[in-house]
Amino acid sequence: MKKITIAIDGFSSTGKSTLAKQLAKQLEYVYVDTGAMYRAVAFFAMQNKLIAADSFNKKALIEALPNIQLEFKFNPNLGFAEMFLNGENVETQIRTIEVSNYVSRVAEVSEVRSKLVEQQQEMGKNKAIVMDGRDIGTVVFPDAELKIFMTASAETRAQRRFDELQQKGDTVSYEDVLKNVVERDYIDTHREDSPLVIADDAIEIDNSYLTREEQFAAVLELVNEVV
Ligand code: C5P
Repeated sequence: MKKITIAIDGFSSTGKSTLAKQLAKQLEYVYVDTGAMYRAVAFFAMQNKLIAADSFNKKALIEALPNIQLEFKFNPNLGFAEMFLNGENVETQIRTIEVSNYVSRVAEVSEVRSKLVEQQQEMGKNKAIVMDGRDIGTVVFPDAELKIFMTASAETRAQRRFDELQQKGDTVSYEDVLKNVVERDYIDTHREDSPLVIADDAIEIDNSYLTREEQFAAVLELVNEVV
């Protein structure tokens, strides 16, 4: 069977990573969560006091980029790869609402994007990869054989993210999660470098009213048409 590149883009909290993980498992492909990479850079910026609610030292972050080493390590117990920042597992730290509140501002910086895009292209050079993010089908792999663009209403997405955070014991309110989802969508779609747009050849899936199983079955059919 032909090995392909599957690009999954879309708005925040549309379930991209759930779908991508299911696909990677089924097809025995590598899964790469590019959002985790932007989140790790944002976490680095927070740790080093380069970003706060009312300030962002972009110049210092750009200068520090050579000192930021990102690596995915597969965890066989979880069945997916975890994000390591300079040798430290930061999988838990990068999923907090604080990181979510800063990540889109960090992801606007062109120097950050070019560093991460280069690493992503390297990871996908042998195909057999499912990568999710915001610019995978447009910038990282414009020649991907299958491009999916996922959407759902902001309220549906905020509710899903809120449930996830609550399960982890995070005491955030639904209103704050919704605000974060709407703000990130705005920054991600309006930034100058690689804004979130649907690629001409992407297939759009609105999963507001689809179960995970229905969505997975629909996308597997699309994969089978291509391989
Ligand atoms: O996918 P996730 O919601 O974890 O991504 C976090 C943020 O990282 C996004 O809101 C976006 O600002 C940024 N991002 C990006 N390009 C990607 C993946 C994520 O700009 N390919």
